[in-house]
Amino acid sequence: MRKTMYTQMKPLWPIIRRYRWSFINLFICVVVTSVIGMVYPYIFGMLIDEVFYQRNLQFLKYIVILYGAVFAGEQCLHICFNSAWAYLATRFSFDIRKRLYDKLLSLRPAFFTASKSGDLMTIINRDTEEILAFIHLNVFFLAANILRLLTAVAFVLYASFYLGLLMLVAVPAVVFVTVMFNRRLRTRLTEQREQYGTLMSWCFEMLAGLQDIRLLGAGKYSSRTFVHMLIQYMRVKNSSSKLEWISERTIGLISLCSDLALYVTACYLIIHQQLTLGVFIASMEYFSKGGELLQRISGASRSIQRNKVAIDRVISLLQEPEENKGSDLPGLRVTKGNIEFDNISFSYNPETPVLLNLSLALEGGTTVALVGKSGSGKTTLASLLLGLYQPESGEIRVDGTLISRCSLRSLRQAVSTNAQETFLFAGTLRENLLWGSVYQADKALWTACEQAFISEYIRTLPEGLDTLIEGDRGLRMSEGQKQRISLARSFLRPAPIIIYDEATSALDGEAEKAVRAQWNNLGGSRTAIVIAHRLSTILSADKVAVLDNGRIVAYDHHLRLLSDSEIYRRLFYEQYAENGLGMNHEETAAQYQA
Ligand SMILES: Nc1ncnc2c1ncn2[C@@H]1O[C@H](COP(=O)(O)OP(=O)(O)OP(=O)(O)O)[C@@H](O)[C@H]1O
Ligand SMILES: [Mg+2]
Repeated sequence: MRKTMYTQMKPLWPIIRRYRWSFINLFICVVVTSVIGMVYPYIFGMLIDEVFYQRNLQFLKYIVILYGAVFAGEQCLHICFNSAWAYLATRFSFDIRKRLYDKLLSLRPAFFTASKSGDLMTIINRDTEEILAFIHLNVFFLAANILRLLTAVAFVLYASFYLGLLMLVAVPAVVFVTVMFNRRLRTRLTEQREQYGTLMSWCFEMLAGLQDIRLLGAGKYSSRTFVHMLIQYMRVKNSSSKLEWISERTIGLISLCSDLALYVTACYLIIHQQLTLGVFIASMEYFSKGGELLQRISGASRSIQRNKVAIDRVISLLQEPEENKGSDLPGLRVTKGNIEFDNISFSYNPETPVLLNLSLALEGGTTVALVGKSGSGKTTLASLLLGLYQPESGEIRVDGTLISRCSLRSLRQAVSTNAQETFLFAGTLRENLLWGSVYQADKALWTACEQAFISEYIRTLPEGLDTLIEGDRGLRMSEGQKQRISLARSFLRPAPIIIYDEATSALDGEAEKAVRAQWNNLGGSRTAIVIAHRLSTILSADKVAVLDNGRIVAYDHHLRLLSDSEIYRRLFYEQYAENGLGMNHEETAAQYQA
């Protein structure tokens, strides 16, 4: 079933309703202006018949006054409309953008896996503007022009019945052709928009990876892909432009035919004295205005097709399912920091299970190193604890409380994380450290930076914590420096459970040791899950959990695992043992067993 405009716009009603009075006032303005604007040809007709034809100079005075009054009234209404519209437009697009942004913040992580940032940018920027254009065209522009057209027909019918009838035949003919073309055009425009989105997303990705492309010598390859994508986009664009052009010409032709019919009929009526010269000239003006209005209406309905595609995208984003925040659920209270993964199964897509009946119990206050091959599901396990995804079966408990029965906000306050990829925002170092949290004095910021082993570097910067980083004008930081800033950020938000996803991978040995010492200091009652890619992480952890084939296959102290677990031994020698360490460890393991 085809959607009506009402059902299509339904998700936007709350915002539209907020401005209903402004919309109503504007609409009244449009109605009055439209009708007033159509009076000119009629007055002109009177001027010809009464003043020129009847030689009644007295009447000229009234005509001039009438012209002046109509013009002044029309201009006043125009000024009112334009200023009110400018205000409404900015407020309205602000509200929609805010809603979209809030929506993005609460969507399920799976949404972001499937969507491209180029598309999302287009929705927030361009498509939002198109909603306004849609309302402007639909409610005001289209309404105004249809009203003008009706007024024109009414004037002509009043002045000459036959000419009015002629107009009534020409109007539906043009509308019919317009509607016919629009249907086809909409499909083409959807294709064009999709192709543009793909092209933009690809450009975004390529620009971000420009350095890598050059280093990999993949310039030619990426340039070929670019040309291929451009050609595809141009093809779709050309075909819709062609259709647009054909539709415009056809409508133009029909208007021309109706003009010719007017001249023939008018000649006949004037010869038979059924029409005055003034009425003929006024009708000619109404006919040409009518043609112009029809052209505009058809132009508007073509733009409306374009807007509808944009609106569909905004609305489908607004209707995306959100993360269940569990705002009505109680907050999570962490006392000891015990974490229990009980028989967890999870997959991103049904064909490839990632975790399968996984069970793991972490004792509060300990540091557990999680190890496993790349792609074995370590980050996924951490994401489940953070409530980013829900396990398909099984339960996760913190101090005996199911995390699915706690508010998401409290869970994320209790579990702090240092993600595998560090992301810093454009802004000052201070803003990055405090991002989203309450204000803290400089002393606390410096302490956190010292703990993360980055304070010395920051002191060498002339503007210290006020140094701009990232963005166009900001300082570029190395991966290791970024990780330390991100570590300092997590030190400023003390949480009883910490997940470090390879947080120290870009740190040098010295810095890593110091950071580790700080974790241990902070440690005490904190439970830490460290997704380990380094030997030192494993050695300093209380226990090591080995993830393989979606399960925890071994969980014990490193040395005991080394002697007892074949899988761990293999993994350890493949991934972790550094030069010369293998032998020593076997010896140590033997001693440990003894
Ligand atoms: N958002 C996602 N959508 C679909 N599949 C995903 C997603 N994230 C990860 N995967 C898949 O799930 C599996 C586990 O990924 P995960 O990131 O948990 O591995 P990992 O153990 O952290 O690996 P690494 O050590 O390389 O970081 C991989 O096969 C990966 O392809
Ligand atoms: Mg990972």
